[in-house]
Amino acid sequence: MSHWEEKYRAKTIPWDRGAVSPALLGWIEDGALPPGRILIPGCGRGHEALELARRGFQVTALDIAPTALDHLAQELAAAGVEAERVCADALTWQPAQPFDAIYEQTCLCAFDPEHWAAYERQLFTWLRPGGKLFTLFMQTERAGGPPFHCALLDMHALFAAPRWQWPDEAPGRVAHPIGLFEFAAVLTRRV
Ligand SMILES: C[S@@+](CC[C@H](N)C(=O)[O-])C[C@H]1O[C@@H](n2cnc3c(N)ncnc32)[C@H](O)[C@@H]1O
Repeated sequence: MSHWEEKYRAKTIPWDRGAVSPALLGWIEDGALPPGRILIPGCGRGHEALELARRGFQVTALDIAPTALDHLAQELAAAGVEAERVCADALTWQPAQPFDAIYEQTCLCAFDPEHWAAYERQLFTWLRPGGKLFTLFMQTERAGGPPFHCALLDMHALFAAPRWQWPDEAPGRVAHPIGLFEFAAVLTRRV
């Protein structure tokens, strides 16, 4: 059983807001995220997957922890909406078709930085050219993890210019319930 599955079974899930992230709601409401095919890697209990499914997006929710996905399945059924649920390792899984968008909320920071380059390759491959990565970079300002600190300088090196276009404006700050904050940014996959 994975470390993550153990945490969900024990309900030791301090990262779970218990609600949709305000960052996602902001992106939907300001029109940055129009309905389409969207992947949520490391979706956890899936508050964002449920919200997007309710709003008519074609959602694929991916997580390595079956208990988290079971929770999402119950929520989807109760709401009478659908989303594809995939229990797999985000470092190896491949979809049949690329996505228009990815919502990346604290899956990157769950990985040891030795896996970040492999995960960036996955994110790039999962998106169609011109597709958007809606991402939240966890800020811990400390060594070790998870969650691992996603320093903006390191993020610019990881999501580098030949493959990713960064927005002109500085990333916004999003408070996180574990007392930390995330930097929110929308990156575009270059062709
Ligand atoms: C910090 S939690 C964030 C969960 C959710 N995004 C949220 O904000 O509540 C990280 C999530 O990534 C999942 N995860 C960790 N390693 C994974 C892997 N190799 N493949 C897929 N999911 C993974 C965990 O099960 C967990 O749900």
